Amino acid sequence: MIVAIDGPAGAGKSTVAKILAKKLGFLYIDTGAMYRALTLKALENNIDINDENKINELALKASIDLRGNPDGSLSIFLDGRDVSLDIRQPRITRFVSDVSKIKGVRQVLVKMQRELGEKGDCVLEGRDIGTVVFPDAQKKFFIDASSQVRANRRFKELKGLNQDVEEVDVAKDLANRDKIDSSRKVSPLRKAPDAIYIDTTELSIEGVVEKMLELCKENG
Ligand code: DC
Repeated sequence: MIVAIDGPAGAGKSTVAKILAKKLGFLYIDTGAMYRALTLKALENNIDINDENKINELALKASIDLRGNPDGSLSIFLDGRDVSLDIRQPRITRFVSDVSKIKGVRQVLVKMQRELGEKGDCVLEGRDIGTVVFPDAQKKFFIDASSQVRANRRFKELKGLNQDVEEVDVAKDLANRDKIDSSRKVSPLRKAPDAIYIDTTELSIEGVVEKMLELCKENG
């Protein structure tokens, strides 16, 4: 069974997707981490983010692996190296939306995501899972929250990673990414018509997960 979870940054997708996958005993796939890993590779190789041909070439050469840990967390490997923390750096966040709007990049990563998903039961989280990667997913969710709450959640998350950030900058960055992710030509962030919309602004994580779990167990 495929569970697709889409929505804007900071809506709580990763948190609920991880817990939901653990409770269901499914594999958890964070597709945003894959776009981040490729962005890291581009920056480390001093490739101009606007040079689509070079970035496409890089995508074809990149080896990106996701490995689940027993505690439910996920480690991301780029060309055999654990980059789980590196991909959360502000410089990656700044450029990832520009890298992920490139058509060739999406073709390569969507193919990888389908291969991972076809291995068995999994929860995939991203922006285009229910619309493009797995349009036939058995369960689709679109997780949203007010922009203020999303910025505050992302700010706390980054503080937890010991990053020296200001909430106002986090809010600006989120607004900028939302704009690029929702307006790009290829696979923009959209709610699939058959996705269940959940606004998490006023809901607890537990409440959201319980609701999703019930819906996943309904008719298979
Ligand atoms: O979920 P995240 O913030 O880690 O995602 C990072 C970026 O990757 C996000 O700004 C847009 C892009 N992305 C995408 O285009 N498609 C996906 N399926 C997942 C992420």
